[in-house]
Amino acid sequence: MLTLKSPAKVNLFLKIVKRREDGYHDLASLFQAIDLCDRLHFELSEVDLIECTQAAIPIGSTNLVWKAIELFKRKTGLSFNLKVKIDKFIPVQAGLGGGSSNAATTLWGINRLLDFPVSVQELQKWSSEIGSDVPFFFSSGTAYCTGRGDIVHSLEPFPPETLWICKSEAGLSTPEVYRHLNIQKLHQHDPVSVLEGFMTGKPLYFNDLEETALKLLPALSSFKQQLLNQGFNTVMLSGSGSSFFCVGTAQKTISCSFDSPAIYLNRKIDEWY
Ligand code: C5P
Repeated sequence: MLTLKSPAKVNLFLKIVKRREDGYHDLASLFQAIDLCDRLHFELSEVDLIECTQAAIPIGSTNLVWKAIELFKRKTGLSFNLKVKIDKFIPVQAGLGGGSSNAATTLWGINRLLDFPVSVQELQKWSSEIGSDVPFFFSSGTAYCTGRGDIVHSLEPFPPETLWICKSEAGLSTPEVYRHLNIQKLHQHDPVSVLEGFMTGKPLYFNDLEETALKLLPALSSFKQQLLNQGFNTVMLSGSGSSFFCVGTAQKTISCSFDSPAIYLNRKIDEWY
């Protein structure tokens, strides 16, 4: 049995560049893996099978783990069957990339169980067929991502930072947030300058999806205000929500449907997280 961590991510900044002909959006975003992780257990077996500790999570063909198994088989022509048990800790519909991370971890896990028939670069390239956020997880854990998120420039790890991840009860659909986005009304930040700021210890956290998400779900707006009232320096929506990451120290007293401290997580070149 092989057990691997499957980490969540936050977008330290997320700029939407333009709407594309294929319905996606070009973005420029600094992704960071964090130590809030699911745990995936892999075993070669007689049939493909997914089990999950959370009954609400579908374990059929819509699960991105399933898509990862099918992708690996299709691309390599290898025949194998896999049992995957998911110990779920990352909240779903939270903008934390849990499903995408599970898919990336599965591709890595299969490759390792089969003695690395495929290069990591190849796995990363294939993985964009599962979802825009999947290729990021093959980076160092800190990456500047462009295109629809699938062009990944791995970076050296940043100095440690402690975050609080807080999710409100309400959930949001990613396509809905993107659909309601008013491209004309976004920040004018130059992403390369913002990236340089992060690399020189002058971070500017922003998320072009936040305003739309807060408008679609006013409860999120008051949740963010409650978090700011706790004394955090920064409270920022992660991805398309509905979780926030909070930076700075504060005495957190409000109750959330999910909350957890988290630190940045990086991986070594030949190891998973
Ligand atoms: O790639 P993924 O399947 O995760 O994307 C889910 C949805 O999010 C897409 O169908 C699209 O509506 C939206 N999206 C987008 N631009 C991106 C990433 C996602 O419009 N760069």
